[in-house]
Amino acid sequence: MTLPPNPEALLQAMQAIVGPTGCLSAAADTEPFVTDYRRIYHGKSPLVVLPATTEQVSQVMAWCYAHDVPVVPQGGNTSLMGGAVPDDSGTAIVISLKRMNRVLAIDTVNDTMTLEAGVTLSAARAAAEDSRRLFPLRIGSEGSCQIGGNLSTNAGGTAVLRYGNMRDLVLGIEVVLPDGRIFSSLKGLRKDNTGYDLKHLFVGAEGTLGIITGAVLKLMPQPRATSVAFVAVQNPDAAVKLLGEARALSGQAVTAFELISAPALDLVLGYLGDVPSPLEGRHDWMVLIELTSGTDEESLNATLMQILEAGLEQQWVVDAAVASSLADVQQFWRIREEISDAQTRTGGSIKCDVSVPLSRVAPFIEQASAAVLALEPATRMVIYGHMGDGNVHFNPLRPAERDAKDFLAQWYKPVSDLVDGLAHAENGSISAEHGIGVAKRDDLTKYKSAVELELMWQVKRALDPKNLLNPGRVLPRID
Ligand code: MLT
Ligand code: ZN
Repeated sequence: MTLPPNPEALLQAMQAIVGPTGCLSAAADTEPFVTDYRRIYHGKSPLVVLPATTEQVSQVMAWCYAHDVPVVPQGGNTSLMGGAVPDDSGTAIVISLKRMNRVLAIDTVNDTMTLEAGVTLSAARAAAEDSRRLFPLRIGSEGSCQIGGNLSTNAGGTAVLRYGNMRDLVLGIEVVLPDGRIFSSLKGLRKDNTGYDLKHLFVGAEGTLGIITGAVLKLMPQPRATSVAFVAVQNPDAAVKLLGEARALSGQAVTAFELISAPALDLVLGYLGDVPSPLEGRHDWMVLIELTSGTDEESLNATLMQILEAGLEQQWVVDAAVASSLADVQQFWRIREEISDAQTRTGGSIKCDVSVPLSRVAPFIEQASAAVLALEPATRMVIYGHMGDGNVHFNPLRPAERDAKDFLAQWYKPVSDLVDGLAHAENGSISAEHGIGVAKRDDLTKYKSAVELELMWQVKRALDPKNLLNPGRVLPRID
């Protein structure tokens, strides 16, 4: 059992490393760092440390290692799984990377960008754009989430179909290990077969193996043309077929293919208030399709029309609105991206983030929906997500008249177990892109094989033998 550190000794040691302005100890100052952004997880911490350099992170970690002080690394604190805030034991300090927010270099010949971990995703995207390049990761929280957190959670989002997850976008990494050693491999190489590719150990490890302090990321050419449509489809099966056709007709141009159920659209339009539906009438299922290419706008629009016509002919498509201006594009995307916040605001949402092979998405949605509605028929089936990747945000929402707390108390566990079980039975994942954190930690032991769990523990013990780094996250807590 770890005892809370002596607060004075801790503060003194940390101030000596990061200076007085790099330490927050008053409860009012630490509060935003110990509560997650959905206000579901509330922890305690004697101190939030804000280092300004990798060297300072290293010294902080070395001190904590020597004094058995647990550490919770934190980026933009946008985790949906409680992975970035401490537990309520009050033993762990939080290390926030927010002061390490410099873009260090952009190499437009190599098409890479080197940056510190605390750069926000939107700042990274803007820096790439200033150099007429694209950094393609796109997620709703881009204004707050940070590159270190994106890497630590292997962030996904709406453009994975085209560009991959964060793991696919990283070439080099710098990490401070639990004992303070620095593993620096800030290389921008697309080929490097020199043994184990250690950087990938830290990607998706949710800060349990080391603290990512810097990275080299891939840059892409900026697309010259973008075409977007908001399309009503018969059902999820028709949507899958439409995606197949879109890919056949446009090659690599399909950048996003997002499914949206009617209750998801109702919810978000109610939340936004001033935004009309892009389509006339109410439709059970819709998709937001985005094509991008290096060719001209006219030919890309023609391809989009060809896809929609093929869809109409096959009766997969019921109706469609094609964006005719940048304002339309932004409005369509705003509708999609605000679904998450609309749920947070409404409360009473059972958030399941699953993936199944694309060929099983439609049967999965049908089975899981029927099973949930059999339990509580008035549940609003808020289903949306990155269908092109087989990633379904299956988020049953409380009936309008039911109290959120009561609904969650009754159904959170049975419904998420049911949905996860069905996804698992389809050879799917119980966490497609949101990670494990603390929310899914105990489920992990149910769905990973004994061999997988043993290997994960062996890696954890090898890198963090004292279990000081983000303890109790991803892997079960051991006291
Ligand atoms: C999204 O796709 O909107 C995000 O993964 C967030 C969420 O599901 O809440
Ligand atoms: Zn998502």
